[in-house]
Amino acid sequence: MTGATAVAHANIALVKYWGKRDAALMLPATSSVSLTLDAFLTTTTITLLDEGQPDQVELDGAPLTGLARTKVVRFLDLVRSQVPSERAGRGALVVSRNDVPTGAGLASSASAFAALAGAASRAYGLELDRRELSRLARRGSGSASRSVFGGFVRWNAGDLDDPARGDETSYAEPLPTAPDLDVAMAVVVLDAGPKRIGSREAMAHTVATSPYFPAWVEHTERDAAAATAAIAAGDLATLGEIAEASAMRMHATMLASYPAVRYLSAASLEVLDAVAALRADGVGAWATMDAGPNVKVLCAASDLAQVQAALAVRRGAGGSDRRVLAAWPGPGLRTEDLPGEDRPAGGPSGRGPSGRGRAVTRQVVASAPGKFFVVGEYAVVEAGYPGVLIGVERRVTLTLTETAEQGPIEQGRYVAAVRAVIGALATARGVTAAPYLMETSSALKDAATASTPARKYGLGSSGAVTVAAVRALDAWYGLGLTAAERLRAAILATLRVNPRASGGDVAASLLGGWVAYASPDRAWVAGRDADAPDAVAALVDEDWPGLEATALPAPSAFGLRIGWTGDPASTTDLVSAVRAVGVPTSFLTGSRDVVVDLRAAIDADDADAARDAVRRARVLLRGLGEHAGVAIETPELAALIEVAERHGLAAKSSGAGGGDCGIALGTLADEAGLAGDWAAAGVVPLALRVASPSQVVESVVGASTVTEENGDD
Ligand code: DP6
Repeated sequence: MTGATAVAHANIALVKYWGKRDAALMLPATSSVSLTLDAFLTTTTITLLDEGQPDQVELDGAPLTGLARTKVVRFLDLVRSQVPSERAGRGALVVSRNDVPTGAGLASSASAFAALAGAASRAYGLELDRRELSRLARRGSGSASRSVFGGFVRWNAGDLDDPARGDETSYAEPLPTAPDLDVAMAVVVLDAGPKRIGSREAMAHTVATSPYFPAWVEHTERDAAAATAAIAAGDLATLGEIAEASAMRMHATMLASYPAVRYLSAASLEVLDAVAALRADGVGAWATMDAGPNVKVLCAASDLAQVQAALAVRRGAGGSDRRVLAAWPGPGLRTEDLPGEDRPAGGPSGRGPSGRGRAVTRQVVASAPGKFFVVGEYAVVEAGYPGVLIGVERRVTLTLTETAEQGPIEQGRYVAAVRAVIGALATARGVTAAPYLMETSSALKDAATASTPARKYGLGSSGAVTVAAVRALDAWYGLGLTAAERLRAAILATLRVNPRASGGDVAASLLGGWVAYASPDRAWVAGRDADAPDAVAALVDEDWPGLEATALPAPSAFGLRIGWTGDPASTTDLVSAVRAVGVPTSFLTGSRDVVVDLRAAIDADDADAARDAVRRARVLLRGLGEHAGVAIETPELAALIEVAERHGLAAKSSGAGGGDCGIALGTLADEAGLAGDWAAAGVVPLALRVASPSQVVESVVGASTVTEENGDD
């Protein structure tokens, strides 16, 4: 099979691109500056068809038609016009998937055309470096030129005097970025209302009719220079001010065209007020808006939770809360060949000398976050009794690198179990893959230093490593498992190692954020589990009785703080002591009621009800400890809880207890005060942000397109 897959992420312009000076070559009137995000991405696979076959284009499972299809076909034609080999005459099957929240208006032409440029150039055997890829992506959609790179990016207007030279010099490049510029983006999702004019048409209309357009061009070039300097200097406040001003100027310029182009809605303006109010309160937050009503808010990563919470709440009569998504800087374009791809000897055919004769090494990097129990520990082990967990941004990362021979993989029992499960799935589907090396790195515990021993925080490393291994091997074999299949594969592997595990940590690690979980009927699973590949495939395919894993909305009226009280005596001892005496039914039903009430409180964003649920969970766990004669809540955890209560938070032990972490839930007025009081009580406050789901990044090292010019992925 000849073809390639590419993954590209959306980017948000901080200094906007609005207006072309050459529509045929897609040359912009100005330079622009953007931030590539981790959260919204497009994956595109191109398989070459036989000579003369028409192109087929599919997006999110449905065939693309009309203008959208024409744009893709024209782009493929452009790629084919540059291909000297026999491949130039072949049609393409293009299968594209957008990973964006549905209905949020966040699918972007930037990620779409960057992924298309990566997949098409590779499938047709064009050997392009990053700069050439950026120029190519530009021809599909201007903003796509920037998604070729990760992080902060600048797209240069290029030579203004001559179109041919302009075409050569108008590309994007990664911007030198101060190491401490740690930013995030809150994306406020607003109702798009009736279908509005597309950005390409609106841009042309603005150029043709807005009397403000010349002023826009002049200002924007200056803004791009100033933003570039602010990014290098790590000056977030200056960058934010430029970004908000650039967005305002862009919208003013289009409002001045005739008839006016207006994307901002009343709701957008309300969010702009809320952002201004945040700034008045001393929180660095700056808004930007594109060709739609959504407002994206740039802030320091450490302020994201606060910004999200403030923007989610709609003030005024009867307002319901807004959806506010979180995003962080993301990587640039990655491409890889389809399995079984045969590259012509001496490197891919096509232009450019680079890469010829070099070995192509495939690499998959998959990561998964850690977790905490919010409520439901001990009960969730029983089938049908639920819990609520949260994924937190401390990750286990696995790297698979192609190698000549399959050596032993010594990464522990969970990885071995995942290899067996995914290996069986691959066999059942008749898929094979190249041998690989596997390396792990974990941020779930702090490294030991000369003066302090390693600290393990009880963040669920076995769950995270299991999920990372499932993601990595799924990608390695190209199985394309659904989220539900990944969950079942990961829990199956977990149960093979520990038949009493709940799997809650696996679900939190897979889904990220706040997660409601109920464990499956393990006897049912065990009864069906067998080594035969078909049996594994059938089990992973099927619905499991009892199993539930649901992503919950992120509450904005309250948050979580986490404190660490020291290593637990022994989790296994605690759990076996409790098991030896048996978990009373009153505990199980009480815990179930708490989970139901906490879920309702999360749905209603009701801080008081959530605190009440946490307090009841604490009482239940203390009672369970007394019943079993073990200290689930140690004196240190009791101190953590007492301090949290003084700050208006409800708190409890998290997980097995006996040490480790406690969680405190509520609205915190005095962050520094809590941290100081916890420290005085011997509790280490852990600065952990809510995790986005597990991620996987693929690249081909040493091949033409991925690593030539950048260090961004
Ligand atoms: C408002 O890149 O979608 O998002 O080049 O015509 O495809 P074409 O337009 P497109 O325009 C993006 C405009 C914007 C601002 C920006 O991303 O810079």
